[in-house]
Amino acid sequence: MKKRKILSGMRPTGQLHIGHLVGALENWLKLQDEYQSYHLIADYHVLTTNLESESIYKDSIEMLIDWLAVGLDPDKVLFFRQSQIKEHTELFLIFSMLITSNRLERNPTLKDQVRDLNISQIIYGHLGYPVLQAADILLYKGEVVPVGEDQVPHVEITRELARKFNNQYGTVFPEPDALLTVFPRLLGTDGVSKMSKSLNNAILLSDKPEIVEQRLKKAVTDPQKLRKNDPGRPDVCVIFSYHKKFNPGEVDEIRTGCESGALGCVDCKRNCASKINSYLAPVLARRVYFEENLPKVLDILSHGETEGRKIASETMKEVRSNMLIG
Ligand code: TRP
Repeated sequence: MKKRKILSGMRPTGQLHIGHLVGALENWLKLQDEYQSYHLIADYHVLTTNLESESIYKDSIEMLIDWLAVGLDPDKVLFFRQSQIKEHTELFLIFSMLITSNRLERNPTLKDQVRDLNISQIIYGHLGYPVLQAADILLYKGEVVPVGEDQVPHVEITRELARKFNNQYGTVFPEPDALLTVFPRLLGTDGVSKMSKSLNNAILLSDKPEIVEQRLKKAVTDPQKLRKNDPGRPDVCVIFSYHKKFNPGEVDEIRTGCESGALGCVDCKRNCASKINSYLAPVLARRVYFEENLPKVLDILSHGETEGRKIASETMKEVRSNMLIG
C-alpha cells in the first residue's frame, strides 16, 4: 500500500532544545516508519523576521545535525532546504494570487509575532509567510502536517489554498491535516516562559551532562519551598513537569516526597538531570558521529534536494498544465 505523506519543517534559527524534541521531533520520529516523510529546512522563512543572512547556511546544517542526532533516519526521510528547490518560490507566487491580504492579516500566529506593530507596517513577505508554507506542504502533496499548536492556523490557510486552486483549475492538491503533539509544550528553566534559546532558559539537544546539571541547578522551583523540609507544590514546579516527561516511572513518589517536604529540591533536580541525560545520551552519541562525518551530512542533504526537486517539478508540471499555461 502506498504510504501517506508527511511534510513538516522548521526555521533554522539556532540550536534545538528539548522543547523541540517533546513538541515536534518525537512526533516526527514516531511517524517516520508509517508515512513517507519529508522534512523541510525553512531557510527563506528566516528572512521574515531577520534580514541578516550570513548564519542561515550554518544554522541549516546544524539543524539537520540535530534532526539526525535525535534519530530521524535518512534512509526513510528526505531532508531539503526551501532555498534550493526553486519550485517553492514559483508555487508561492501562484498561491499569492489565490488569497486576500485581509485573510492573511487575520492570521493569529502573525498577530502574536508582531504584537506591538501596526499591521500596515508589516513586511509583505512576512504577511505572506503562510502562503510560502502552503507551497512547502503542497508541492510534495503533504497530507499530514505534524506541527505545534501555533502552526494550526497556517495549516488551515494551506487547506484553503488547496481548495481554492482545485476549484479554480482542477484538482492537483490534497487538503492536509495538522497533527498535534499530545504532550504540552515544555516551559523553560525559569519556570515561566516557554523554552527558548534566546531567553537562556533552554536545555539544548547538544548540552553535555554537566551542562544539563548546571542548568537544572539554577532552575526556578516552587518559591514557597525554601528549605529541604518545607512542603512543596509540584504542580507549580517546572522540574516536576520535566519529571513527568523524562521520568514518568517516579512521578508519584516525587509528588509525595515534595509535598511532604522529605524530598529537597537539590536531590530532586539531580535526579531529574540524570534522567534527562540518559534520554539525551543516544542523541549526543549520534551527534558526535555526524559532526565527525560532515561530508555524510552534506550528502544526505544533497540527496534529499535532488529527490525533492524531482517531486516538486512533477507537481509544477501538473499545476501549469491544469492552468493551461503550458
Ligand atoms: N512555520 C513553521 C514554524 O515556524 C516552519 C515551517 C515552514 C513549516 N514551512 C513549513 C512547518 C511547512 C510545517 C510545514 O515552525
